[in-house]
Amino acid sequence: MGELEVIDPVFIQAPEHRPKPESVQANNVPLIDLSPLSSREPDPGALESLVAQIGQACKDWGFFQVINHGVALHLRERMELVSKQFFAMQKEEKKKVARDEVKPLGYYDTEHTKNVRDWKEVFDFTLQEPMIIPHDHEHREMWNQWPPHNPPQMKEVCQQYGAEMEKLGHKLLELIALSLGLERDRFRGFFEGGTTCFIRLNHYPPCPGPDLALGVGRHKDAGALTVLAQDEVGGLQVKRKSDGEWILVHPTPNAYIVNVGDIIQVWSNDKYESVEHRVKVNAERERFSIPYFMNPTHDTKVEPLDELLSSRNAAKYRAYCWGEFFATRKLSNFKKLDVENVQI
Ligand code: SIN
Ligand code: FE2
Repeated sequence: MGELEVIDPVFIQAPEHRPKPESVQANNVPLIDLSPLSSREPDPGALESLVAQIGQACKDWGFFQVINHGVALHLRERMELVSKQFFAMQKEEKKKVARDEVKPLGYYDTEHTKNVRDWKEVFDFTLQEPMIIPHDHEHREMWNQWPPHNPPQMKEVCQQYGAEMEKLGHKLLELIALSLGLERDRFRGFFEGGTTCFIRLNHYPPCPGPDLALGVGRHKDAGALTVLAQDEVGGLQVKRKSDGEWILVHPTPNAYIVNVGDIIQVWSNDKYESVEHRVKVNAERERFSIPYFMNPTHDTKVEPLDELLSSRNAAKYRAYCWGEFFATRKLSNFKKLDVENVQI
């Protein structure tokens, strides 16, 4: 039987979007050491150099990895274990926390990216409960669902891990603000009073057609910032800005992968672009990853920041409401990054 027959056609990517093993190059995404942030006697030179590295990585790649980030390894390991235990449960158990129209957070396995089904199953939870999003001119409250017994302490571990991700996310936003010449806490206000941040547990089972399907099809992240823990299997590929090649982000033990999303692209008026990425799957090994999506409050009006605009750098986007975009996920409603339509 040829490879084409072994997986359901709903998973099969168009030929031009299938991963090409020969074009995969590893380890090019910048690796940045955040230790100057935790030093007892901060050295201004080291901080300045760190800010410069962050700025360069955001400009050249939209992606980078961080080490010495201050998140305890044992907490990450507990989180990874809980995620493995959750996905190892019987489908009927997982479906007890399945998301649906009424409960939009929890478990599901039928996400499509660009109309092709992704080879993965996921579990989503929010950090600030309830997560409020606009809905038909009203507000909708989104509550977490937790499996009643197993894995043990799933809720507690997820909450603790989430709190650490929030801290790291704010540190990274501060560095990004400084790298744009902004006040250090310029972005903080957008995340106060009920954010739409959430964490996703991803499980990519072994796939019999790894050259036809993708764990996640090519896409850009719509929020502000994503902070991802990937396991040692690897599979995340980033589209290199310089030549459009798909570059594998080589797993670095205990590193977090950071990427700027569409909101930072708009805030920075295109100085930092949100870059396409996708996930390759694997015939032999399952893979796990845990992204933290750092999203502002639902009522955030997203627009290029005034301080960065000038007569020579006019706003490239008109304002849009993050919550309305998040609620509908219909890009066409806001045409926010459809440059032809949005550039003014
Ligand atoms: C994603 O971009 O949605 C997932 C990234 C990953 O699993 O590495
Ligand atoms: Fe993504």
